[in-house]
Amino acid sequence: MAEQIKKPVKITETVLRDAHQSLIATRMRTEQMLPIIEKMDKVGYHSVECWGGATFDASLRFLKEDPWERLRKIRDGFKNTKLQMLFRGQNILGYRHYADDVVEYFVQKSIANGMDIIRIFDCLNDIRNLECAVNAAKKEGGHAQVALSYTLGDAYTLEYWMDMAKKIEDMGAHSICIKDMAGLLLPYKATELVQALKDATTLPIQLHTHYTSGVASMTYLKAIEAGCDIVDTAMSPFALGTSQPATEVMVETFKGTPYDTGFDQNLLAEIADYFRPMRDEALESGLLNPRVLGVDIKTLLYQVPGGMLSNMVSQLKEMNASDKYYEVLKEIPNVRKDLGEPPLVTPSSQIVGTQAVLNVVMGERYKSVTKETRAVLSGEYGQTVKPFNEEVQKKAIGDKEPITCRPADLIENELAKIEAEIAPWKEQDEDVLTYALFPQVAKDFFEYRQAQKTKVDPKVADKENGAYPV
Ligand code: CO
Repeated sequence: MAEQIKKPVKITETVLRDAHQSLIATRMRTEQMLPIIEKMDKVGYHSVECWGGATFDASLRFLKEDPWERLRKIRDGFKNTKLQMLFRGQNILGYRHYADDVVEYFVQKSIANGMDIIRIFDCLNDIRNLECAVNAAKKEGGHAQVALSYTLGDAYTLEYWMDMAKKIEDMGAHSICIKDMAGLLLPYKATELVQALKDATTLPIQLHTHYTSGVASMTYLKAIEAGCDIVDTAMSPFALGTSQPATEVMVETFKGTPYDTGFDQNLLAEIADYFRPMRDEALESGLLNPRVLGVDIKTLLYQVPGGMLSNMVSQLKEMNASDKYYEVLKEIPNVRKDLGEPPLVTPSSQIVGTQAVLNVVMGERYKSVTKETRAVLSGEYGQTVKPFNEEVQKKAIGDKEPITCRPADLIENELAKIEAEIAPWKEQDEDVLTYALFPQVAKDFFEYRQAQKTKVDPKVADKENGAYPV
């Protein structure tokens, strides 16, 4: 390499969100995070991802922690580093479409509690479902990043991604992320895709992938050489497998090149030393299954995200139909096609996966149709890249006229109603949003919180013990 312009690659650290979500079922507690933040703050990360749908849900459900309190504590610790979260567009951190007033209020409160960068995606890549959150983030002075939910299929050409990138730039977003949740992006395809996006837009490009299929660090290398600005990595004790490439390895790879991050490896080593016992403990308790640490080549064959596979395995087990595993795997692409070939990411991954299980287990396709499949086929999640299978649509929704507008246009503002429902438990404004997203889980948590204050309700205490899998 002769004289070259320096272009340090920027790093988003995922150990506080995606890494522990991918490897240990999102069970890292706030108190396990706080002692290391001061050191992490000195690394020079572009951002630290620390919040998202699963972290929010798991804090309430299993750890009995207020996710807002976690955010405030993490914010207090990071004086110099930007915080980042993952946001499901009009689904916020949940599974259904919310009214605009809830989306706006959630963004407002996230930023008010310390969030800097909001990574917004839609499971169908329907741009209309991103607009409300993007506008809200801009209005609140946050960084609005839009993620392309990366997937494969004949509709997903370079032109498709370029067109989407242009629309995202027109929307006024600040950056674009290629969100490769299943680890499908191959190294040389990454070169093509990053170059295409760089041609289509002037926005910074970030790449997010998972190591599941074993190609992730090669993909990062090619993407960065093609001009990718930022990559997502995880500290080594919580890297690889279904998680991200290791931070230290990426840093070392680019040392002495124009992409040199300038990070201090000794500091990174100290941070890794902090997290390693947590990994060892998780391996010992079984919370971290060594199986998820290897290469799962099925991901490339079936193009299914790891989390979706494990969901499917447990659904089949519950139905005493574990022998149907490969049949269901074959049915997934068929259901995906019937539903307009969407990317497979929460919530579309669960919808397609559950329907595929039913189609196989019932012995007849669409004999039983889930509420969510019906909603997709009614247009209630938005527009898919390809048309629905009309026969399947007819079977699922009959003569009902599918909607074609932005789904949230049909949802009345709902904040006031939600606020009234939770009035008895409300201790802070944010409780309204917690309840809006996960009503039952939130209610259980609020009851627990109240009981903790009086510490006399043994019934709640029992329930709490049962809900602690770690
Ligand atoms: Co991810």
